Amino acid sequence: MATSRAFPQNARAGWHRAIWLSLGLALLAGSCSSSPDASSPQTGVNARPAYHFTAPANWLNDPNGLIKVDGEYHLFYQYNPIEPWWGFIHWGHAVSTDLVHWTDLPIALAPHAVLGMPFSGSAVVDSQQTSGLCSGSTSPCVVLVFTHSGAAQVQSVAVSEDGGRLFRLYPSNPVLPNPGVADFRDPKVFFYEPTRQWIMVLAAGDRMSFYGSPDLKTWQHLSDCIPADPVPGVLEVPDLFQLPVTNEPGMTRWVLKFDTNPGGRYGGSGAYYLIGRFDGARFVPDDATLKWVDYGADFYAATSFANMPADDDRRIWVGWMNNWAYASVLPTGPWRGALTIPREVEIIKDSDGYRLVQRPARELTALRSGEAIVEIDNQPLSGRSLNLDDCRGDAMEISLVIEPGAANDVALAVRKSGSQSTKIGYDQRRQVLYVDRSFSGNALLRDTLPARHEAPLPLDGSGAISLTVFLDRSSVEIFAHDGRVVLTDVILTPDDGLGVELSTDGGHALIRSLRVWSLRSTFSATARLYSPL
Ligand code: FRU
Repeated sequence: MATSRAFPQNARAGWHRAIWLSLGLALLAGSCSSSPDASSPQTGVNARPAYHFTAPANWLNDPNGLIKVDGEYHLFYQYNPIEPWWGFIHWGHAVSTDLVHWTDLPIALAPHAVLGMPFSGSAVVDSQQTSGLCSGSTSPCVVLVFTHSGAAQVQSVAVSEDGGRLFRLYPSNPVLPNPGVADFRDPKVFFYEPTRQWIMVLAAGDRMSFYGSPDLKTWQHLSDCIPADPVPGVLEVPDLFQLPVTNEPGMTRWVLKFDTNPGGRYGGSGAYYLIGRFDGARFVPDDATLKWVDYGADFYAATSFANMPADDDRRIWVGWMNNWAYASVLPTGPWRGALTIPREVEIIKDSDGYRLVQRPARELTALRSGEAIVEIDNQPLSGRSLNLDDCRGDAMEISLVIEPGAANDVALAVRKSGSQSTKIGYDQRRQVLYVDRSFSGNALLRDTLPARHEAPLPLDGSGAISLTVFLDRSSVEIFAHDGRVVLTDVILTPDDGLGVELSTDGGHALIRSLRVWSLRSTFSATARLYSPL
């Protein structure tokens, strides 16, 4: 969202008007109901993801404040509880013990009459009581650091003394006033042990700004990082974390991720990253060339879990599976907007330097509803297509290793119904992996952004490509070559699009292995009744 230039249509009216209008509507209605607004679009119930997170009803955008506290994952998110479009933003809240099943909790943050709406931000546990905000409490001191967006964008904090259930605002908010920068938001905060201070990285117009604090309440500017490649949009939602380099023992690097809208790979919004060093004050990239986090059209505003326990050093993040180019008009209902599956993030070194790798969180195997429903090994695939008759569904995990051999193109069609399907393919001559939404159903997506999304992908050393695909009712997430290349796309398909088909063009290919699992639904309507504040 939310650059002054690239505001979604429905938000253009202005945040203040939205707040007061929505407050008025809520009061008139007496309560905020869980049923969709009468104008809420519908495409049939099956469009609702089976296992991707959606809000109980209405609008969701960025995931916020991901944190693990006392064995429980907390997920907050930008949420309009009463309308299916952006505006009247709250922090929705859900918890999980397994990253797969989520339980809705009451809203954590609501708009503030003076400071504005609670925009994106992060969460920390102040285990050393540096802030003094929780003195006296025996539960972990959970602090949310976020942007209040009103007349100006400022940074505020809220605190929970009951381990992350109830949050109260710090009375002296904001903790970081606006220095005169219109787009000044989305703080990611973490404790940096070597200098024993909190670090905040903030999207500030054309740059990321770094601030330091001893107590989460007073902040000093440390440095700025301006991408060397010009980025056309306003920067949003940075994340910064350190990781070991998986295949270089003893080596660590820092990942700086940020988003931009517009400026995405296909127009609309998109996410970039840099890998480099951070010394507690300044981030210096090893290579100033910006890299795409995801080659699809629908991966945005990812943020990673804080406070992972000592025996689990994974970095896991979740993104908003959407694009600001059409987020506000997606014909779904009563939900609008979904999050990606949780992904484990790593750094590896390959021939052209350090790169990010993303894999589905291992917990997701719990979604498999039994044994694989398709098991094929070493089967040649000729020009004719292979219709996988036993394999119908709209929520599946597909693992495919294929040698394109003499074929120019190999393609996996999913959510197929008649001539409609979404194609996930490999163009061997151009060495690109692609998703093609040209015939995937509803025309909105292909009318708004180019239909074909491509990622460079050389064959592996053995002449094959390997893919893991997480298919849901309205999305595909594709992890190629063990997560080295990822494509995430929303799809809007007919409800009866349940077929799967493999085909080649121009010669023989070899299916080295194909496994398909049906995935269970984790969505439970009864667990998702929304109760207003
Ligand atoms: C990113 C974003 C953030 C902002 C939030 C508002 O999608 O625009 O920059 O904090 O959404 O909902």
